[in-house]
Amino acid sequence: MNNVERIRGLKCRECGERYPVQPTHVCSFCFGPLEVEYDYDAIRETTSREKIAQGPVSLWRYKDLLPVEQGEDLNWRVGFTPLQPAPNLGKALGLKELYVKNDSVNPTFSFKDRVVSVAVAKAKEFGFDTFACASTGNLASATAAAGVRNGLRTYVFLPHTVEHGKVVNAAVYGATLVSVEGTYDELNRLCSELADRYSWAFVNINIRPFYSEGSKTLAFEVVEQLGWRAPDHIVAPIASGSLYTKVYKGLNELYRVGLLEGTPHTRISGAQGEGCSPVAQAYAANTTAIRPVKMPTTIAHSLAIGNPADGYYAVKIAQDTGGVIESVTDDEVVEAIQLLASTEGVFTEPAGGVTIATLKKLAESGQIAPDEVTVAYVTGNGLKAQEAVSDQLDLTIQVAPHVESFEAAIQGLERAPVTV
Ligand SMILES: Cc1ncc(COP(=O)(O)O)c(C=O)c1O
Ligand SMILES: [Zn+2]
Repeated sequence: MNNVERIRGLKCRECGERYPVQPTHVCSFCFGPLEVEYDYDAIRETTSREKIAQGPVSLWRYKDLLPVEQGEDLNWRVGFTPLQPAPNLGKALGLKELYVKNDSVNPTFSFKDRVVSVAVAKAKEFGFDTFACASTGNLASATAAAGVRNGLRTYVFLPHTVEHGKVVNAAVYGATLVSVEGTYDELNRLCSELADRYSWAFVNINIRPFYSEGSKTLAFEVVEQLGWRAPDHIVAPIASGSLYTKVYKGLNELYRVGLLEGTPHTRISGAQGEGCSPVAQAYAANTTAIRPVKMPTTIAHSLAIGNPADGYYAVKIAQDTGGVIESVTDDEVVEAIQLLASTEGVFTEPAGGVTIATLKKLAESGQIAPDEVTVAYVTGNGLKAQEAVSDQLDLTIQVAPHVESFEAAIQGLERAPVTV
């Protein structure tokens, strides 16, 4: 089935105005965001669980529900990441069936490889020769890797405050990195002006309606990996709110095309760092009006968007699904990174720490019930932001190369080995 049948075009989320498939992201009538509109009845006729199971071991197994006609980069294995049962963490938090969706093992070590995979395929379809993004850190490496490997001239813009590991991880692919002295929101404004000036594919600006669809695969995979069951509760991080809102859209589409039966019941909770929590604040105040944060201060740099484009929709989804949007302090984030590492062997960056700290808060306050099947999205890798925890850790014990020195050093250590 080709695009003509499967994809109707773009549609304004606010006024419903329709547009053809083209590289634009705002409605020219009301400035609302544009979204891809599918013909779900046509997709229902051709998609099936069996067809998906025979597809590639990557996000492209869900191509029927992605806005790409051709040119997907099948050799770059993005998605179908582990849904790891997390019994130890579950026990610590009093949750009986907890899973961690470990998306930190994608090629550039964050979930951003999903959205960029869709964006680069679409940019090539549209005939662009230049690929670009406005990043909080992780999008930079995903865009750099995909752009360069697909032979596109690639520019990535990132704030000067980004962790060193993320800069190195973006620079290694050979794209042009532009470090901007300002907040993410200022950088994003600069990129919007550049997108008006140059005919570039800015993944999260003019390509955004297509790019953001990549995040739906986080929902598709979890449902398939649970044996075609929707979880009762999801906890996901929020920066712009794109991932969060697309997980919701993805779940609903599975019912719409007959891959899930019954009615949607998943509660979708959101997680933010306290120093940049405009969506959590709006949720707490029971309003959908987002008050932008001018100067974010959270340790979770990757989530530091003061004026989130999808914040309004995120609050509505939390309200509609019975989820909660919470914020957590830097100390809670650092503690949660160590908790996840020591219970489940997964080292996440602060965005994952925000998610796990929020999961803990919701479990402890009873807002997640013990028997809810719960999935926490861990979206970025700890190796990219080691400074978040390195000061907290006793990195090594120093010994001379003698048994006596070793045994003297481990005296009194909690985990001293037992001699045979
Ligand atoms: C690791 C990580 N998780 C989650 C997010 C949230 O992304 P969104 O802007 O889709 O809310 C980001 C954004 O950069 C991120 O880097
Ligand atoms: Zn409109």
